[in-house]
Amino acid sequence: MIQELKIDNLEKIDNSFLNKEYIKNELNNNPYAKILLLIENNEIIGYLYYSDIYERAEINQIEINDAYRNLGFGTKIMKFFTETVDKNITLEVNKENIPAIKLYKKFHFEEKAIRKGYYNGIDGLLMERKKDS
Ligand SMILES: CC(C)(COP(=O)(O)OP(=O)(O)OC[C@H]1O[C@@H](n2cnc3c(N)ncnc32)[C@H](O)[C@@H]1OP(=O)(O)O)[C@@H](O)C(=O)NCCC(=O)NCCS
Repeated sequence: MIQELKIDNLEKIDNSFLNKEYIKNELNNNPYAKILLLIENNEIIGYLYYSDIYERAEINQIEINDAYRNLGFGTKIMKFFTETVDKNITLEVNKENIPAIKLYKKFHFEEKAIRKGYYNGIDGLLMERKKDS
């Protein structure tokens, strides 16, 4: 099940994987922030945090609890997201983050630019997925 996390529900959540302080801070300070939770058997195992900025959406973070990685859950939440958000989507990723880049390419994100040394000396890739791709 995938559902949006509303700030009013944050305190009710008991889940050590989710960094509640970080999420609370983002929801309070980013007027465009939206968080999708991936819930399996009543357990939150992943989230996708994005900014819904008028004609564009920007993925700020996607994370699957490390015990559940490489099992298709990232694909599941990304499929829901790309089908629901009917907009161009952008993101930045560490060039060495192979699992994330594989996930993005699977959903037709394309490399648009390089940010030299953006991640502590490692290049960042700016990627974009065109609406309807
Ligand atoms: C990136 C992340 C969300 C992917 O989630 P996931 O549930 O592991 O992804 P999936 O199982 O759906 O796999 C997606 C694709 O990546 C590949 N993949 C996943 N983990 C991989 C690994 N460790 N090495 C190589 N390929 C990998 C899968 O094979 C799959 O491709 P395929 O369908 O063509 O076989 C997860 O690795 C994660 O939480 N990473 C830490 C946080 C992070 O780096 N987020 C991105 C910030 S920009």
